[in-house]
Amino acid sequence: MEKKPLSPTLHFYNFLILGFFSLAASPSLANLSFNFYAASCPNAESMVRNTVRAASSTDPSVPGKLLRLLFHDCFVEGCDASVLLEGNGTERSDPASTSLGGFSVITSAKRVLEIFCPGTVSCADIIALASRDAVEFAGGPVVQIPTGRRDGMVSAVSNVRPNIVDTSFTLDEMIKLFSSKGLSLNDLVILSAHTIGSAHCSAFSDRFKADSKGQLTLIDTSLDSTYAKQLMKRCPVSANGSITVNNDPVTSEVFDNQYFRNLLAHKGLFQSDSVLLNDNRTKEQVQDFATDQVKFFSSWGQSFLKLTTIGVKVDDEGEIRQSCSFTNG
Ligand code: HEM
Repeated sequence: MEKKPLSPTLHFYNFLILGFFSLAASPSLANLSFNFYAASCPNAESMVRNTVRAASSTDPSVPGKLLRLLFHDCFVEGCDASVLLEGNGTERSDPASTSLGGFSVITSAKRVLEIFCPGTVSCADIIALASRDAVEFAGGPVVQIPTGRRDGMVSAVSNVRPNIVDTSFTLDEMIKLFSSKGLSLNDLVILSAHTIGSAHCSAFSDRFKADSKGQLTLIDTSLDSTYAKQLMKRCPVSANGSITVNNDPVTSEVFDNQYFRNLLAHKGLFQSDSVLLNDNRTKEQVQDFATDQVKFFSSWGQSFLKLTTIGVKVDDEGEIRQSCSFTNG
């Protein structure tokens, strides 16, 4: 397996990030490197990037979908593209996965890569790179991430629930799950930033209800009532399951620190968002990021790097899939 040493011309954020995070810290991460495909497929990153750019420019919902796809990939079985595998009993069979998107963007990127560099670039790397690029195209931080992940051979529906956060989780429950993935409380607050993308009504509609006269009754009193009224209007009880609401009601398509300002205004969409303001262990960070986008961006880069390296497969633990939807066997 080829490796390339870190480039001396690391981007500003990489410089910041590497100060906190060593790739050699664990044996699996030591197999990752920056520009891993430099010799085997020099244009791999730009091929992914061009695909993501084209998809995001025609459909602004793409960046949010790709970022969430990465989150679900990495939390279940590690960042190994297990989330992409199709078939009975795979992760995609879980109802929590039905709202995932971005699959077609990964498929398109893989198609191009298989033409120019057959059997070389893993689907796990494509998800990580695509998600990184998507955030950048949405106005977020520029982050360099290492590559060299291998694609997993296991994808089980039973692995989804124990590894995915539900909006009803308490902060303690979220901390426990994040820490089992090597992520700190700090990472939890940063990565939770729902600054782009959207959510289905079912993800938050238990926070309020209409009384017999159709007036708002707040069930979760930590939610701003004007905002709750808007949500209730958009999500009537009679609504079909496909209605969505922007995660960030102010700058929905821009990756920025508005999420934290929304939290301060009690306009966090999910109960799990509001919790971050309501708990003294996280409140200060919310306030900090709400006023300092530069700090949020540099912190996000560090936490994102950790997210993209959870449970990475190396050597025989994985393969380079020919099709992202199926294992080679
Ligand atoms: C901390 C606990 C978290 C909870 C409880 C949570 C929950 C949710 C839920 C319920 C949705 C809406 C799904 C739908 O109805 O379509 C959502 C959307 C989203 N989440 Fe999270 N999430 C969490 C953390 C994260 C993390 C760590 C990331 C990424 C780093 C992330 C990125 C996203 C994105 C980008 C969307 C929008 C997806 C789209 O537009 O299709 N979330 N999240």
